[in-house]
Amino acid sequence: MAVLITGGAGYIGSHTCVEMLNAGYELIVIDNFSNSKPDVIERIQKITGKTLTFYEATLLDKEMIDTIFSNHEINAVIHFAAYKAVGESVEKPLMYYQNNLISTLNLCEIMDKYGVYNLVFSSSATVYGNPDRVPITEESPLRATNPYGHTKQMTEQILQDLFISNPMWSIASLRYFNPIGAHESGLIGEDPTGIPNNLLPYISQVASGKLPHLNIFGDDYETNDGTGIRDYIHIMDLASGHVKALEHVLVTTGVEAFNLGTGKGHSVFEMIDVFEQVSKKQIKYSIQERRPGDIAVCFADPSKANHVLQWSAKRGIYEMCKDTWKWQTQSGKQLIR
Ligand code: UFG
Repeated sequence: MAVLITGGAGYIGSHTCVEMLNAGYELIVIDNFSNSKPDVIERIQKITGKTLTFYEATLLDKEMIDTIFSNHEINAVIHFAAYKAVGESVEKPLMYYQNNLISTLNLCEIMDKYGVYNLVFSSSATVYGNPDRVPITEESPLRATNPYGHTKQMTEQILQDLFISNPMWSIASLRYFNPIGAHESGLIGEDPTGIPNNLLPYISQVASGKLPHLNIFGDDYETNDGTGIRDYIHIMDLASGHVKALEHVLVTTGVEAFNLGTGKGHSVFEMIDVFEQVSKKQIKYSIQERRPGDIAVCFADPSKANHVLQWSAKRGIYEMCKDTWKWQTQSGKQLIR
């Protein structure tokens, strides 16, 4: 039985490929390298000692997807391929709607054509916008606040409608909190182009001397130390959540959303403190204004995934920071073409 992974060379996709290969699945991977590099595919195979079938292609090319489905016995799909930068989505909304929605529509159309109804979709906690209360459960209202988040929320709606139209569909939308860290080998990790937007890649580049200091976006939130609190989750825990979600969709039908988070929140200062411990470097910082659109506190209630998927996050922030630092320093990251 083969599983198609779209966007399998990306940050979350590549770590999920490792977990899927380790779990014994045959993988067909497609990626257009819009935000990833070809070496990642080699490294996934090196880490696991297993091979996968790779296509360099975009989901916007419907004929190509059709060809892939006709070439292989595909049983299920894990769909990551999408643009994901919040700021860029505000500047270029059409690009985001065009890419993220059309890709998914094409994929679902071809899945339907070939009678493949098992789908795990890469959603995001961003669909909750500014939540009324924390921890956030899956029942919290969906009110994304930017085009990127709207594409995730709209896709979840499309998938609900698909299931209503045909109850053969079995779909899990996984709402990720803040994925960080890297595979323990240091061979794959997050490799943002340009100046990172997210906290951990930024801290990591300050520690390595690539960036002079961290800008902390606000120290006057109503939190223990005034900085924003998030639910950071180790990328390998997130990857194992996909394997569990896939096992679930293979034996059920329906459409379900699951929070993938640890259920614990940590502040920016806590993350700096732990990163200084693991890297033995000082993280210089400067306090800035709040970043527009940021919320004070965001963390998951992961109990639905704990019970229904029999999954829970195992790794704490020390391991997350340690593996991020290993990737930053020992990976030969620079060697990735
Ligand atoms: N932060 C800084 N300085 C930085 C970057 C971030 O102080 O240079 C702070 C933010 O203000 C926030 C925390 O660090 O308090 C985390 O910020 P990130 O940018 O790392 O993460 P966000 O929670 O803002 O957003 C992330 C993803 C989104 C996703 C969302 C889901 O980037 O794509 O989580 O909750 F939608």
